[in-house]
Amino acid sequence: MAENRHNRTETIIMPPENNPDMTPQQLLALLRFQMEAGADEAIDDEPPVSAPTHALADAADAPVPAPMNEPVQTVQAGAAITPSPHPQHTGNWVDAATDLAALEQACADFDGCDLKKTATNMVFSDGNPQSDLMLVGEAPGADEDRKGKPFVGVSGQLLDRMLASIGFDRTSVYITNILLWRPPGNRTPTPEETALFLPIIKRHIQLVKPKAIVALGGSAAKTLLATNEGILKLRGRWHEFDAGQGQVIPFLPTLHPAYLLRSPGQKQLAWQDLRMLRNRMADLKQHNPA
Ligand code: URA
Repeated sequence: MAENRHNRTETIIMPPENNPDMTPQQLLALLRFQMEAGADEAIDDEPPVSAPTHALADAADAPVPAPMNEPVQTVQAGAAITPSPHPQHTGNWVDAATDLAALEQACADFDGCDLKKTATNMVFSDGNPQSDLMLVGEAPGADEDRKGKPFVGVSGQLLDRMLASIGFDRTSVYITNILLWRPPGNRTPTPEETALFLPIIKRHIQLVKPKAIVALGGSAAKTLLATNEGILKLRGRWHEFDAGQGQVIPFLPTLHPAYLLRSPGQKQLAWQDLRMLRNRMADLKQHNPA
């Protein structure tokens, strides 16, 4: 084991065992992200066992980090989804959409949200709708609003590196946000806005039928799990999202790339989550080969 300048042991592993065919670019992204996450030597494939005592608090979220060696727990959630305070706005037309194209068109036609008036584009999704893995962020930012695609700005670039570090890219994941239009000035979505969009993201998930969901950041995690617990407590363990229609989907909250850009010392926690994700996806593949 090697000790880094924070006197903590770090490990590194390459290439991911579930994807031995990584391209040189993916391998470089993997190495880069692992080094940013604190890895400094090729040792073994076990995660560090010591908990950081200096973990930074997410300003917008709970300040207590989950211990790094916290056992994996499954928490039933999603069943507790709060009904939209405006069910008349989204209830019927959302459920009437029977495929993704219909849902996207219905959302484009929806005039019940003021965010649409200030946004340039609706940001529906990117990636592969056939994917087993669906990522859900908070809301489009300025770059996404301009281009009409989620995670295409600097956060998106970091997200791409995080995905590449476990052998995924935009052809092998499906990405969306809770909100489909950018809140002006990138302000945090209000509870009314997230409640309004909840039936839409729930239907979106029902139609994609992913085998696993990753919530990027506290806003997405808290909205979908219907909890006020902070992301630093929610991350690091598997939960379940009950999408209805008999779909109970493994759900992993992790840190938002924008937060990681502000607090790079937390990348080690994201790397821990990514490893959990990689292992779960490899298990899923093994038990349900295409
Ligand atoms: N942050 C998000 O949560 N979503 C995006 O699409 C971009 C930045």
